[in-house]
Amino acid sequence: MAGIVASGSGDTALAEALAKELGWEHFQLEARRFPDTEGYVRVPDHCIEPVRSGPVALVSATFPDSAILETLFLLHALDDVRKGNMSSLKNGEQSLPDVGPGLFLIIPYFGYSRQDKRFMVGEAVSARFLASTFANHCDGLVILDIHAPAAVEDLTTPVELVSSMSEIALHLQTKVHPDFILSPDKGAVERASEVAQAIGVPFSYLEKKRIDAHTIEHSPKDLDVDGCIVAIVDDMISTGGTICRASEALLNQGAKEVHAACTHGLFTGGAIHRLSNHVSGVHSTDSLPNPRANVSAAPALARGVNALLEQI
Ligand code: R5P
Repeated sequence: MAGIVASGSGDTALAEALAKELGWEHFQLEARRFPDTEGYVRVPDHCIEPVRSGPVALVSATFPDSAILETLFLLHALDDVRKGNMSSLKNGEQSLPDVGPGLFLIIPYFGYSRQDKRFMVGEAVSARFLASTFANHCDGLVILDIHAPAAVEDLTTPVELVSSMSEIALHLQTKVHPDFILSPDKGAVERASEVAQAIGVPFSYLEKKRIDAHTIEHSPKDLDVDGCIVAIVDDMISTGGTICRASEALLNQGAKEVHAACTHGLFTGGAIHRLSNHVSGVHSTDSLPNPRANVSAAPALARGVNALLEQI
């Protein structure tokens, strides 16, 4: 079933790549800001017919915060066009037949996913709240390498959790030739072991304790990495602290070269510079635009869209 891929003010390159993977057309929706920074979105005239003709995969981020609101407004506008609801129109109401379900939200990087539970009384469970809000405004979600799947486990709207680990494995195998894969904490064990298995090399993990947003500690562990090229695989790199500490442990135990790979390259607060002092290479998907993006997230997202199509 052919549809279209749509995007707003960000994610254009990834949306185009996804469209190419699916063999669909990409349409740019209008999304801009008023002088006071409030957002404005619109489905342009030339997009009305394509939006109503088949499934629509909206590629839209949830990072930074302003993208969350844009995503919700775009979903609202697309949903109204598909439902034929043009009430409140200044020059007189219009209505068209409802074209039915088929509006999918494709989230390359799901922000707030680390707040999937309450760590202290009174906290917002931001990830769950966001996920359910999005789910209430679309017919299906595709989320790439979500930090904690628990955030979406109770949703009644179909959710396809997809992963770029197979593409990351292929990239590492051809460009880095690692002979050992390390997960820098227990949370990334499943992802990193998938990469190790795909490449056919040994794997291990570290136990991490986060002291604060900028400080982490690893429990000492003997790793059989003497003379090895090691790739550390994680779902995201933010400050780079986790990777830097893991790399120190590996180099102290004789690793010849250390590389860092992740799906989501946030690289906040000088992370790229910090990492350049600790690892020989940084490898990331383009789920977020970043200067180390060398793996396409589009194939994984396309797998998710195709899986959703089978459910409507
Ligand atoms: C947390 O468990 C994540 O998987 C990452 O390990 C973490 O968010 C990386 O953050 P940073 O780069 O700031 O250490």
